[in-house]
Amino acid sequence: MLNVWKRDRSRMFVPRIAAIGAISGGIAALFLFAGCQRAEQQAETQTSQAPPASASIDPVARGKYLVTVGSCNDCHTPWKMGEKGPEPDMTKYLSGHPQEMVVPPPPQLSEGPWMWLGTGTMTAFAGPWGVSYTANLTPDDETGIGVWTEDIFINAMRSGKHWRQTRPILPPMPWFSLAAMTDEDLKAVFSFLKSLPPIKNMVPEPVIAPAPGT
Ligand code: HEC
Repeated sequence: MLNVWKRDRSRMFVPRIAAIGAISGGIAALFLFAGCQRAEQQAETQTSQAPPASASIDPVARGKYLVTVGSCNDCHTPWKMGEKGPEPDMTKYLSGHPQEMVVPPPPQLSEGPWMWLGTGTMTAFAGPWGVSYTANLTPDDETGIGVWTEDIFINAMRSGKHWRQTRPILPPMPWFSLAAMTDEDLKAVFSFLKSLPPIKNMVPEPVIAPAPGT
């Protein structure tokens, strides 16, 4: 008798467990379905309201950020003595070595350090390569990057060759760091430089040292 009861009970249990399983499975499936629908709806509203991340970045703002963290200011803006010590002269922001500044002749390299900062503006450098002056990065047509196209800029930074392709870009310009940027970021840097107020400042041509042994 006990055995029968036991058997009966077990027979009853199996369908009950199966039924509970089916119901809870169904509920879970319903939740899952509802969840998916909500996620789909969210995705739809997101795409209809906001453009994809890369397109939403303003190239000029991105370029400003890259120029700031890339320290272009350190060399391409002349420095002056401020109240709290040396500071970049923001009225000449990124306009390069000042044209009116006469740079004293560099010391003999055999006597001096490997690199010599010619002036308090920190815009002229002498070393084994000769003497280099930082370029005017503002979009002035005659003295800056006004006539440059995006391709000219990207080619110069990627190849390490002066934009007229006549000579290498001289130290200490870290063109190899810019070469590591994505095309998108290089374009953003260029957009920002093009958005600056043009400053007329004719930077002197560099003095290229004769190759060693010549
Ligand atoms: C350590 C100093 C230094 C820093 C930092 C620096 N530059 Fe320069 N840059 C120079 C010098 C010096 C030259 C001139 C090189 C020459 O005459 O060949 C130059 C030249 C250039 C040129 C002209 C290249 C050509 O075709 O002749 C561009 C464009 C330029 N820099 C962009 C930048 C940007 C953008 C940054 C910041 C991401 C930057 N530089 C950071 C020193 C620097």
